[in-house]
Amino acid sequence: MSEETITVNHLRKLGNSNLSLSPLGLGCWQFSNGKGTVGKFWPALGLEDVLKIVQTSLDGGINWFDTAEVYGGGQSEKMLADALKQIGTSEAEHAYIATKWWPILRSAGNIPKTIDERISMLDHRTIHLYQVHQPYSFSSVARQMKEMAKLVKQGKVQNIGVSNFSAKQMREADTVLKEHGLRLVSNQVKYSLLDRRIEENGILDTAKELGVAIIAYSPLEQGILSGKFHSNPSLVKSIKGPRKWMPTFRDSGLRKSKPLIDELEQLARKYDVSPTQIALNWLIHAHGETVFAIPGASKVHHAEQNVKAMTFSLTPAEVEWIGKISHQVIHSTK
Ligand SMILES: NC(=O)c1ccc[n+]([C@@H]2O[C@H](COP(=O)([O-])OP(=O)(O)OC[C@H]3O[C@@H](n4cnc5c(N)ncnc54)[C@H](OP(=O)(O)O)[C@@H]3O)[C@@H](O)[C@H]2O)c1
Repeated sequence: MSEETITVNHLRKLGNSNLSLSPLGLGCWQFSNGKGTVGKFWPALGLEDVLKIVQTSLDGGINWFDTAEVYGGGQSEKMLADALKQIGTSEAEHAYIATKWWPILRSAGNIPKTIDERISMLDHRTIHLYQVHQPYSFSSVARQMKEMAKLVKQGKVQNIGVSNFSAKQMREADTVLKEHGLRLVSNQVKYSLLDRRIEENGILDTAKELGVAIIAYSPLEQGILSGKFHSNPSLVKSIKGPRKWMPTFRDSGLRKSKPLIDELEQLARKYDVSPTQIALNWLIHAHGETVFAIPGASKVHHAEQNVKAMTFSLTPAEVEWIGKISHQVIHSTK
């Protein structure tokens, strides 16, 4: 691979859509206000913090936000919409919105029943991307896509995406949407330097083949890739929520990922940036313009730091090197 510089910080087309989005969006699960089972994962943030995080993200060049019905039963959608309204700038007004329908214990008939609540929670903002959150509805992929296509025809949403869908399910979704003159735009999946399963299970290859964008969630492995838990393991104990029980947060998990953190820190020193910025920069450049990432922020300084991942260029050799170390760490038996 040559040492030419990778161009960063321009908008890119989101898969098979006409949306021009920044390579990073802001993940808004953190805006769940501590409500609901899924929303309790993160401590509640006040509107003032949400406002500052949204403002910081917009100032840093982020032009889209990812939320969902299940993030506090609409709390995240509402807090995001309230923050954008209060900010009131042209950037806030024109920000793109991605949200998601929750399919668990529901059938496709619930899609038209709940869309007006989504629109209302979002204060009647345009839904630019409407995603099926999980592939576990009572209904087939085909029935779900038919209902989603109707929403586009009715002008209630602009584009259709999915989340956590397998390669086969993506293909099926795209085939059905094509019958309605539409295309599948994106698949939102877990992807980070510590979780590269989509490179091996056909999801990434299928996305590239179909022109579907990958939206990488948990791109910082829920904070692990910042290195803060490695330098201060006692921080794990103070986490409110279930993260501390996850294998990556245990002592053995931290020991396993340490060689990767060391490399991220070394490169971060070279660029005078943070390890999170290196980790995010890698994600949005390792596969051309296919991968977008949506880091979440629980504090304003996270958003400040993370947006700057769009302002510098790793060389292709560095992208390759970090990828190699991450691969070794993921597959190490330690
Ligand atoms: N479709 C799905 O099924 C699905 C699943 C999960 C997430 N998502 C979406 O993806 C978004 C991001 O995923 P995620 O929230 O799971 O994980 P993430 O973005 O990898 O991690 C976010 C957390 O990491 C910590 N952090 C972030 N930036 C930091 C920084 N610069 N320095 C130190 N710590 C930092 C913060 O937690 P602490 O301060 O508490 O450590 C923050 O809340 C979510 O908001 C949501 O929109 C979608």
